[in-house]
Amino acid sequence: VAANSFGTVFRITTWGESHGKAIGCVVDGVPAGLEITDSEIQEKLNKRAPGRSRFVSPRKEKDQVEILSGTFHGVTTGAPICLLIRNEDHDSSKYEPIQEVLRPGHAHFTFLEKYGQFDWKGGGRASARETAARVAAGAIAQKFLKSFGIEVKATLKQVGSIKAKGILSVVTDTLTDELFCVTLEDEKEMKAELERILQEGDSIGGVVECTAFGVPCGLGDPVYEKIEAKLAFALMSLPAAKAFEIGHGFEAVFMQGSEHNDSFHLEDDKVTPMSNHAGGTLGGITTGKALVVRTHFKPTSSIKKEQKSCNHEGEERPFSLPEGSRHDPCVAVRAVPVCEAMCALVLADSLLMNRLVKIKY
Ligand SMILES: Cc1cc2nc3c(=O)[nH]c(=O)nc-3n(C[C@H](O)[C@H](O)[C@H](O)COP(=O)(O)O)c2cc1C
Repeated sequence: VAANSFGTVFRITTWGESHGKAIGCVVDGVPAGLEITDSEIQEKLNKRAPGRSRFVSPRKEKDQVEILSGTFHGVTTGAPICLLIRNEDHDSSKYEPIQEVLRPGHAHFTFLEKYGQFDWKGGGRASARETAARVAAGAIAQKFLKSFGIEVKATLKQVGSIKAKGILSVVTDTLTDELFCVTLEDEKEMKAELERILQEGDSIGGVVECTAFGVPCGLGDPVYEKIEAKLAFALMSLPAAKAFEIGHGFEAVFMQGSEHNDSFHLEDDKVTPMSNHAGGTLGGITTGKALVVRTHFKPTSSIKKEQKSCNHEGEERPFSLPEGSRHDPCVAVRAVPVCEAMCALVLADSLLMNRLVKIKY
């Protein structure tokens, strides 16, 4: 199961399985001198943790993080930072009766084809539990970015056909507690939709929007490492991610050049784009405007409804989740802090890359 690392200079390697003893992350390339504590990382992890609301998986994990290395008196030393999160709620006995049935929408089938085995207990590396390690690493990236005046904030933009009307315009805008919406009205509408989906025992897709404020002009490169290409790679590496957009994204197809082009003007003695239809990039390089990206997530694969499937021998077997098993009606809800972390990791890496290649500022 190759490719467990991400980033070039600010580089993370995640490890561990959903139902193993622990999961974690090694974060390499963090410059020395950054103040970071367990509790700052914990704060971010708590937003992703299961069991924090009726609309996310009831798995009871504290997701308690420990910094094992790379800091001295709460300050990074420049050495690799090892982060550990122990798994607590991993009773897999109820999955035993269905271990031979291929789970629709899960990696069971492709793992068996490719590796000849599948961790039916909790999905192993295919499980979204791995994203907790990304959030922990992302918390360090976010702290690093903040010292450069860059902040990333993600919101839930859409649940099924319910689109949020609220727009995140400044980084100080507060988000609702449960669904990370800009307004309570948006959260109310989305909750009603999620409630309907829960009653049906089904699931629904969603969209997460990430905005990075304070990004300087000049991050990213013009060809293979375009900033949007790096962000797309990062966000599309998330489980259940099905599409990526930047700026107007899919809508840009319906626009005309005269509408979509960002014209330039002088603002505070600096030439800058007047608008931000492009979503903060031009030629693969950040313009100094906010970066705005959206990730579209498919409906959660695990649903309460019975589905058609077969066993490893191809014999027809209906698939039903065991009684009392956990599922999220919409994975996009828990993906909000994860998207934020992935954007932060890309920007921290790009910032350090930029310092390597630029001779003169
Ligand atoms: C934060 C997060 C939480 C998730 N939780 C669940 C879940 O509770 N149940 C589920 O079926 N899928 C969940 N997923 C998605 C699955 O892990 C994913 O769909 C599955 O591994 C198959 O991979 P693919 O959809 O990328 O092809 C979650 C994804 C994310 C990002």
